[in-house]
Amino acid sequence: MKRKSLNIDVVTLFPQFFTSPLSESIVKIAQNKRFVKINIHNLRDYTHDLHKTCDDKPFGGGPGMVMKPEPIFECIEKILIKHPRRRVIYLTPQGKPLYQKKLKELSRLNGFILLCGHYEGMDQRVREHLVDEEISIGDYVLTGGEAAALCLIDGVVRLIPGVLGNKESLRHESFQGHYLDYPHYTRPRKFRTYTVPEVLASGNHRAVDEWRRTKAIENTRKKRKDLLLKIKKKKG
Ligand code: 6GU
Repeated sequence: MKRKSLNIDVVTLFPQFFTSPLSESIVKIAQNKRFVKINIHNLRDYTHDLHKTCDDKPFGGGPGMVMKPEPIFECIEKILIKHPRRRVIYLTPQGKPLYQKKLKELSRLNGFILLCGHYEGMDQRVREHLVDEEISIGDYVLTGGEAAALCLIDGVVRLIPGVLGNKESLRHESFQGHYLDYPHYTRPRKFRTYTVPEVLASGNHRAVDEWRRTKAIENTRKKRKDLLLKIKKKKG
């Protein structure tokens, strides 16, 4: 039996930010094939004043603006009426760093809600009484959570069974997934003076596998020693 669609709700001040990135390539196909349903909610639709105000000055003073709690509570609580157990994830550089393991976990849920922050921050009461989990996509600062939400969505969608061809998902699960990738080549076999390694055209599948394995480990050692140590620790 086919699995129910993964349901992703995105809560944002900038719904247009998502239009093009979600209408391209694999994520687009995944939506068309009903593997995933992505709903973008405009926070301004949950205001009640003429100017659709979503931010205000910080109590205690200081620079910048803070996102008001009311529109966020109203928007997310509306989603939660229909899906009371849905996880609310706030994207912030103060969150837990995002790794492949978390993407896998999220891809197995029925759905989740992504809250994108902007300005200097979010009223603390949203974080304490509405948000279940805070996620960061790395130790650098973006102007808002939207680009981070797109990264997370992209990484989750490709893990939904059936979205990628079986071969590619298998490759992902295999030993290659823990190391950096091996080098890839296509035709022509000789481009200018640059040639394709002999072994790849040898037809010897065992030798090809061995070459790729060696290159993957070598790549990881050269570029990401930290990953190699992490893999060793995991294997014990
Ligand atoms: Cl999730 N949001 C923002 N604004 N900046 C970030 C981030 C998130 N992750 C890394 N930098």
